[in-house]
Amino acid sequence: MPPKRPKVNAEHEAIATKLLERMNLRQKIGQMTMAERLSAEPDDVRRYGLGAVLSGGGSHPGDNAPDDWVRMNDEFWQAAMGDGDGPGIPILYGCDAVHGNNNVQGATVFPHNIGLGAAGDAGLVAEAARITAREMLDSGLDWNFAPTLAVVQDCRWGRTYESFGNDPQRVASFGRHYVEALQGEGIVGCVKHWAGDGGTRNGMDQGETTLPWEELERTHIAPYYPALEAGVMTVMVSFNSWNGEKCHGHRFLVTELLKERLGFDGMVLSDWDGVNYLDEDYGTAIRLSVNAGLDMFMVPERWREFIDALEAQVRLGHVSTARIDNAVRRILRTKLRCGLFDRPRPSRRLGTGSGCTGCAEHRTVARRAVRESLVLLKNERNLLPLKPEQRILVAGKNAHNLGHQCGGWTRSWQGETGNDTIAGTSIWEGMRELAPNARLSAGGDGGDADPNEHDVALVVIGERPYAEGFGDIRSGDDLVVEGGSMVNGLMNPLEPYARSLELAETHPEDLACIRRISEKGVPVVVVLVSGRPLAVGRELAASAAFVAAWLPGSEGRGVAEVLLGMGDFQGRLPLPWPGDGDPAGGEMQFPGGFGLSYSPAAFDNVVGLNYKAG
Ligand code: BGC
Ligand code: BGC
Repeated sequence: MPPKRPKVNAEHEAIATKLLERMNLRQKIGQMTMAERLSAEPDDVRRYGLGAVLSGGGSHPGDNAPDDWVRMNDEFWQAAMGDGDGPGIPILYGCDAVHGNNNVQGATVFPHNIGLGAAGDAGLVAEAARITAREMLDSGLDWNFAPTLAVVQDCRWGRTYESFGNDPQRVASFGRHYVEALQGEGIVGCVKHWAGDGGTRNGMDQGETTLPWEELERTHIAPYYPALEAGVMTVMVSFNSWNGEKCHGHRFLVTELLKERLGFDGMVLSDWDGVNYLDEDYGTAIRLSVNAGLDMFMVPERWREFIDALEAQVRLGHVSTARIDNAVRRILRTKLRCGLFDRPRPSRRLGTGSGCTGCAEHRTVARRAVRESLVLLKNERNLLPLKPEQRILVAGKNAHNLGHQCGGWTRSWQGETGNDTIAGTSIWEGMRELAPNARLSAGGDGGDADPNEHDVALVVIGERPYAEGFGDIRSGDDLVVEGGSMVNGLMNPLEPYARSLELAETHPEDLACIRRISEKGVPVVVVLVSGRPLAVGRELAASAAFVAAWLPGSEGRGVAEVLLGMGDFQGRLPLPWPGDGDPAGGEMQFPGGFGLSYSPAAFDNVVGLNYKAG
């Protein structure tokens, strides 16, 4: 069912009308412009009346402590409010807090969405969103470019982990819970990426979604309805094309469908330089996008050029002043709706500087999220649960690596490696706390495994961090990207994460580590840290027990707790798990919904499943 239409707030509309009457064209276009903090000083906000500023992934002020963020947000706010000479419109400061307030030093980092999808617990999603909002408020932030409502279809996509899975109904339900909780705390939400990003062909980021309308609607658009009905204030447009037409220039998708048919009266924003790809001529590209119905433009570095070019388009009559007024009204409406006009400067707001960033209470919830997200794929001879007194050898490259365990969008866009930049507990540290006889393999590679000294080994394997197209798994023709610049023009041709879904091809060191240990007669429990299912037939065959841990985030102890039986496995696959072979047409290793548990009752739902162990 399409969402109910929002109620018109007459008072807000009257204020917006008054403001619009006082603004000249330059000021209106300024409101439609969002710059990146590295390219815009507070003084630019004052002079150009910029509507919003963002932090790209990892872009942080000062030493990246919450205080540094508050100070920066105060400066931007002050610049926007001016000395009473301008219209005095507060700015929105946005960032991607996609698994906790993940840019900020010391933040609680939740499992990425794919793990929450495995947990299948809408209440948990709401709690994660609430905590994310509180930690954002602590840093004086306004706006979160989350949640992602992509319904992933092909796990070769580098953004698979940003999706709650391939079930449209689950994405719909989680979207509503996330948005209600986030906005309930006073942070503006943003559902993305409109529309069809999860359906991108062969899992190519920023690619083509080729689907008949009915299928696009059912799988990729319907999941937005509950969030729209819950009053999500902003929608971000996808880099993707639908049936050959870029979403950033898609009048049907943005204006006719989202705004008119579905009654969305908030703000539609572009993705990072997403207008660039509509036409080689920047002015033309902007015209196409504004006329398609986008209201706010994420033009991180080119914002001055954007302002001039859009002004020229209006002067030439290619963009109507009515369209500009409508875009600005939607932006003002959003700012009124979220209470921005009623709030003092960030440092004086309720919740700002609360010190809650990374607090024990938040980490406890994140740890619960980790526990719930784990999916048990194999448990031969009930090797699991491990016993706290066992002599456990902990090995594998992801055993003691917070960066890898958090994945992309953590402290930096592409993610971190090692334990120096993220506050939390690695999986090894969690084991060490709970199992006093556990030892970390000296070289990490299990070369020191010894059946006389070790009862069992825990080998933590998997991917290293990536974000967006850098995480794509591509081969053949998909390696050559037609039409050029991908991933914000950063790199062309893009070197994908890998050319095969098979972990043994991409990360042969993992299989080697498992075999090195098991060949010595020490039984191996594998924990896979990855943003998606991977073809792991050989790793499965070489191990006695196997757990998919997704990208658990900062609380690695949650993994140790379940391995040690301090809780049962509750996670179920949020998308099917591919076998080795052709990822598109190949046989599945496990169906979506699969997941074992310790308790016999929990086996009921897997009876009859005939999975092959490699
Ligand atoms: C990302 C930003 C990131 C930037 C780096 C963009 O594509 O979305 O978050 O900081 O690239 O250049
Ligand atoms: C991503 C968006 C993100 C934006 C800002 C883009 O590259 O596609 O999801 O919100 O950057 O960082």
